[in-house]
Amino acid sequence: MADQFIMALDQGTTSTRAILFDETGTAIATAQKELPQIFKQPGWVEHDAMTIWDDARQVMAEVVIKANIPPYKVAGIGVTNQRETTVIWDRLTGEPIAPAVVWQSKQSDAIAEQLKADGLTDWVYEKTGLWIDAYFSATKIMWLLDNVPGARERAERGELLFGTIDSWLLYKLTNGAVHATDYSNASRTMLFNIHTLSWDQDLLDKFNIPASMLPDVKDSSGVFGYTADYAFFGIQVPVAGIAGDQQAALFGHKAFKAGDVKNTFGTGSFIVMNTGDDIATSKNGLLTTIGYGLDGKVTYALEGSVFIAGAAIQWLRDGLELIKSAKETADLAEVAREQHPEPIYLVPAFSGLGAPYWDQNVRGAMFGLTRATTKGDVVRATLESLAYQTRDVLDAMQTDTGLTVGSLVIDGGAAANNYLQQFQADLINVPVRRPKQLETTALGAAYLAGLGVGYWESMDALPEQAATEMKEPLTERQTEMVTAYAGWQRAVKAARMFPLN
Ligand code: G3P
Repeated sequence: MADQFIMALDQGTTSTRAILFDETGTAIATAQKELPQIFKQPGWVEHDAMTIWDDARQVMAEVVIKANIPPYKVAGIGVTNQRETTVIWDRLTGEPIAPAVVWQSKQSDAIAEQLKADGLTDWVYEKTGLWIDAYFSATKIMWLLDNVPGARERAERGELLFGTIDSWLLYKLTNGAVHATDYSNASRTMLFNIHTLSWDQDLLDKFNIPASMLPDVKDSSGVFGYTADYAFFGIQVPVAGIAGDQQAALFGHKAFKAGDVKNTFGTGSFIVMNTGDDIATSKNGLLTTIGYGLDGKVTYALEGSVFIAGAAIQWLRDGLELIKSAKETADLAEVAREQHPEPIYLVPAFSGLGAPYWDQNVRGAMFGLTRATTKGDVVRATLESLAYQTRDVLDAMQTDTGLTVGSLVIDGGAAANNYLQQFQADLINVPVRRPKQLETTALGAAYLAGLGVGYWESMDALPEQAATEMKEPLTERQTEMVTAYAGWQRAVKAARMFPLN
């Protein structure tokens, strides 16, 4: 297969990308399109599902042209996606009945609150591993069925299908031949029983969602279907891997052992620990989820979902206009640290706090400002807030599992920031490693698809990633870190004492 390639289709919250990988796991070409965000009402976030599909088709074609390879040299396609985002479409026409409701969207908040008020929290957690929240697909489906005229009747007549973005793209790629998803995506819907590995009829009854809408659930690696004529240069290529983006990143890091942890600094920050066969439960606000399904066996994981990470750096750039590009932040923070060792704190709870707090009512706050505070101090506090939130989650993971995190591997945009990487290492007092190539999510999808078509024979045959950059914790900073983290904890507490309503 030396002259063949694997394509990853990475459909994220803000962009759709196709990346071609060769046998050594090297990305040889990338094509990307930004995805417009639709904000109809405060707190709502939607995407046009047809745009997602059109963009996917376009970037898949573009990347092949850029790499200057014949399309038949693509041995398999791996899909990875923003998770939970919900699409409902007509089974016959393939037309979405409404815009996709994005994972960040709060339009089903009232439904989630009602389910909690009905006392269903523990019951739902025991079955799905998820704490009831508008974040997951279930309340989004309920909202669409209740709010799109005629949707409920059509769903009950069996005319409508539901899918997360992977499922939607697979359906389109196969021209409606396959309606399926993988275990990792199913485990984010709040409808999937992670113990029995099937859609949970009790939940479907309680939420009033017809089972006929749901996709088949399969292993993350293996042939799901083949591209239809119009999808990819008129040739049939196997779609042979699917995983939610955070789980794909775990796989891309080859974090295959129980206790392995990765953190992706994207819009939000998603810290995922492989727990192997163990369905670890959390007393500290973490989610139990499925990492991946392979050879008929699932691997479980614990996840801490932090809503705002890279988005806070975007806010510095676009909201406050303090910086022109994220690249400036490392130097600004470094200088600020030298000038004013005493930190200020930013709690970036712009849309509430996710793990381990799950507090939707708290909003962003800054503490410790003085007349001497500079732009650099604010930039520094913003970068450090990403590390503090990661520490919150890692502490919770260690308490829940009794496992000790020996090192942390990071990826995503902000992982390139040297200040953040060093501060993170100091704060958690373990080495923080960053792969040279930060396309770990796409690489994970490529690995899954490659295994699915025998491009790589086994997990042992997956290529090692190129050299990584490691930052060791600095011993001389450990006392300072104890004080700094205590300050962060006080800041979070204070922010939560000033709720939105
Ligand atoms: O759970 C949401 C997550 O999958 C979104 O990831 O990278 O698209 O922001 P990203």
